[in-house]
Amino acid sequence: MNNHPIGLFDSGIGGTSIWKEVIKVLPNENTIYLADGKNAPYGEKTSEEIIALSIKNTEFLIAKGCKIIIVACNTATTNAIDYLRATYPIPFIGIEPAIKPAALYSKTGAIGILATKGTLSSKLFEKTANEYTKNITKIEQDGEGLVPLIEGGKLNSPETQQLLTKYLKPMLNFNIDHLVLGCTHYPYLIPQIQQILGTQVKIIDSGEAVAKQTKAVLEKNNLLATIIPNKVKHTLYINSSKAVLENIVKNVSVHKDIIEQNF
Ligand code: DGL
Repeated sequence: MNNHPIGLFDSGIGGTSIWKEVIKVLPNENTIYLADGKNAPYGEKTSEEIIALSIKNTEFLIAKGCKIIIVACNTATTNAIDYLRATYPIPFIGIEPAIKPAALYSKTGAIGILATKGTLSSKLFEKTANEYTKNITKIEQDGEGLVPLIEGGKLNSPETQQLLTKYLKPMLNFNIDHLVLGCTHYPYLIPQIQQILGTQVKIIDSGEAVAKQTKAVLEKNNLLATIIPNKVKHTLYINSSKAVLENIVKNVSVHKDIIEQNF
């Protein structure tokens, strides 16, 4: 089982922001990434729909022999991870908006959270937010429209710029000093976000933390791989156009196969 792949899934290309950290922290591991771009955005779907899509993605990755699955999507984690953990026998790693460190390190007592509607309205998000932000002002903003723009490869378009300005500028009136990125697509917008918020606002994304947590769970379960790095295999599957996925991982210098397939 040790040399079986780590599986990751997301509603599209966003979870590659996690995948990139995982292959840095765990260079001996094979990976399989699943981009369910055909069904993006998940953030506008009901909890039942998100759970059904998460089941489909999980079963695809289990059929490919994955030993552990990283739910590289905040929306799928906050809606479906309890169900997945209760249903399948392998370990699952999830990603949730990193509210805790933002609240802990905030000096102004105000933090912003940019996430999808599906995440902000989930019970798991509500629980975490209530636990860590008792004395903190938190400004929640639904990033509606951003995921389709990123899936369309429009990172630097005027539409993206306009939406980000509309969503983030008002947060400055509350004197936020941290912005939590609660969607794995959003790290691809960090330069634009930083330009709007200025350097005094710290942007928090959890990619590296998720990669380290994955390593810890593999260690604990005696599941670390023993493959030499130049024999490692990375396969990325996408059920929408593969050009955007190819573009977003083009600077990652590992051997990878990108496959467009209906699933
Ligand atoms: N990357 C997903 C997340 O982290 C995007 C959700 C969506 O497709 O709306 O929430």
